[in-house]
Amino acid sequence: MNILGIDTSCDDTSAAVVSGGEEILSSIVSSQTEIHNKYGGIVPELASRRHIEMIWPVVHEALSAANISFDAVNAIAVCCGPGLIGSLLVGCGFAKAAGYARNIPLVGVNHLEGHIFSVFLEKDKPEFPFLSLIASGGHTSLFLISGFGQYKELGRTRDDAAGEAYDKVSKLLGLGYPGGPQIDRLASEGDSGAFDFPRAWLHESFDFSFSGLKTAVKLVVGKDAGLLGNPAFLADIAASFQASVVDVLVKKVEWAIIKTGIRTVVLSGGVASNSGQRKKINEMGREREAKVFLPSPALCTDNAAMIASAGYYHYLAGDTAALDLNPRAYLKL
Ligand code: KG4
Ligand code: ZN
Repeated sequence: MNILGIDTSCDDTSAAVVSGGEEILSSIVSSQTEIHNKYGGIVPELASRRHIEMIWPVVHEALSAANISFDAVNAIAVCCGPGLIGSLLVGCGFAKAAGYARNIPLVGVNHLEGHIFSVFLEKDKPEFPFLSLIASGGHTSLFLISGFGQYKELGRTRDDAAGEAYDKVSKLLGLGYPGGPQIDRLASEGDSGAFDFPRAWLHESFDFSFSGLKTAVKLVVGKDAGLLGNPAFLADIAASFQASVVDVLVKKVEWAIIKTGIRTVVLSGGVASNSGQRKKINEMGREREAKVFLPSPALCTDNAAMIASAGYYHYLAGDTAALDLNPRAYLKL
């Protein structure tokens, strides 16, 4: 069964064809980084305009790369939120039109559900129940996943998402957008103990908070703007900042293992591709005798294969959408 997945929730136009919910026949991601880089963050209006230009070429490329036509598509799974509303509208509008014109069933998928299901595109799949940490540019949440459609949110960020903190700190350091990969690279050259940045433990809670950390970095950087020209200073800031984010994310997962007794952990979202994060969660997993699943970096960041993967299970459950499917900027899982 072939599912055509579409994701336009943020700044990437993505389409993919997934067979049987787990075999990626094609996955195309058209990045808008160049457009938004000079603004140090995503400009929503520019993002939606670019999606309009790219949606058909990207879907066409996904079908060609999978070597199929619309005739061989059994369902179209489209991300219907959460995300930027102007961006979501493009993907949903396209999916509804294509579904109607070609008489193909439509499935609406929550973006977070897509991130959770990205791991099922890998060979090594987790068994239910598992703990799922989603850390991306728009979200940081810890879920308990008991089965398909059975999701319990244990905690979420009270302010910035982890990826958002990476992006904002990168902007402060003059490193550009997206900040995660730049800081990740720089951090490997710096001293993580150089600055004692705060960790918001928020005791007795699985919630997260990263805005204080961002302010702490701002205060250090603000003391002497000349330091930004010093590569060693930048590397130390990056390493110390990253150590703080990673410590908190990993510790919260560890607490969740202790509290729930669940020893299977899945990471997803752009921040899950961070090298420091991957190393530390694996170390913690070994100590706690927990099985840690880390999708490959290309499946951690936004892609449409994950939407097709989650869409497959909706389709099997008969959960299809009508043509009045409307995207929502805020959509609870
Ligand atoms: O999942 P994603 O592609 O989009 C959202 O759903 O938000 O995540 C993008 C976020 C950005 O904030 C980006 O800076 C961050 O993931 N990111 C990283 C890394 N690669 C991407 N953060 C830390 N380290 C990385 N290697
Ligand atoms: Zn995402």
